[in-house]
Amino acid sequence: MSALMVQPKRLIGISIDGLEVQVPEGTTILQACRRQQIDTPTLCYIDTLHPVNVCRVCVVEVEGSRTLVPACSRPVEAGMKIKTGSERVQHSRRMVLEFLASSADMSLTAPEVKRWMNEYKVRPERYGPPAASRAGERDGARTGRHEAPESGAAASVRQPVKIDNELYVRDYSKCILCYKCVEACGVDAQNTFAITVAGRGFEARISTEFAVGLPQSACVYCGNCIGVCPTGALMFKSEYDMREGGTWDESRQTVTSTICGYCGVGCTTDLHVQDNTIVKVTSPLDHDVTRGHLCVKGRFGFQFVQRRDPERNAPA
Ligand code: SF4
Ligand code: SF4
Ligand code: FES
Repeated sequence: MSALMVQPKRLIGISIDGLEVQVPEGTTILQACRRQQIDTPTLCYIDTLHPVNVCRVCVVEVEGSRTLVPACSRPVEAGMKIKTGSERVQHSRRMVLEFLASSADMSLTAPEVKRWMNEYKVRPERYGPPAASRAGERDGARTGRHEAPESGAAASVRQPVKIDNELYVRDYSKCILCYKCVEACGVDAQNTFAITVAGRGFEARISTEFAVGLPQSACVYCGNCIGVCPTGALMFKSEYDMREGGTWDESRQTVTSTICGYCGVGCTTDLHVQDNTIVKVTSPLDHDVTRGHLCVKGRFGFQFVQRRDPERNAPA
């Protein structure tokens, strides 16, 4: 048989919430749940990156397994009996979302994350208000030196927004440490390895080498990290400035798909336009050429379309 011929995958039988179903071998529990329209929360998972299993919000119960298992990465096995809505699963998902929301600002997460928070009755406020920002301290934190916040306050990852270039900002007060940006900057897309996780435990944080600013780091400003960040921790400077100025309004924005004209690769770009001005550029995750990823030119090189007033850093 030709090596190019793709062999059909064997179907295997599993049970999800008591329903017997057949799925192709190699399917993950998450994919099997999605085929049955079973809503499964995910935070660190995205179709275009390898699963890293760090948030654990997708956990399900598998008969015979001592611990809950992450649906996003665990392949199904013949005869597997999966429960997605048990009290244990619900409790675990609630705790994950509650711990994250009590320590990080999740106000800019996608609507489905807010829906899951309601559904799982997440109440981060019961841990107290977020502890005060420790300006600069997180970058210099030493492993194993976590200090508990003052009584009544919730330990927080708050810190000042990092603005060190004109293209994008990093607001790690919103970081839930999902690792997606690290994956996108590394082997899954960009292969630049400009950012990684520094520290351990509560002091773990995303950092450049030696916590230098982006202009001094290996970053090539592709913005692929922004494209996968689920919380708005990484954001176009244009969007950040408009949000700060109170003018960002997605209800007044249109999205126009086009092809980047900078080179012959032909990446699909989605131009987000507000008040006749391009305010940011993304790329569709399901596009064969880009899978959501772009280079610095396609992502940020949109200023040439409109003349800008350098004094105001706004369209002329
Ligand atoms: S912009 Fe690109 S190179 Fe820079 S940190 Fe993000 S993914 Fe890495
Ligand atoms: S900056 Fe965004 S993508 Fe990176 S780990 Fe934090 S939340 Fe995830
Ligand atoms: S979505 Fe599965 S571990 Fe994060």
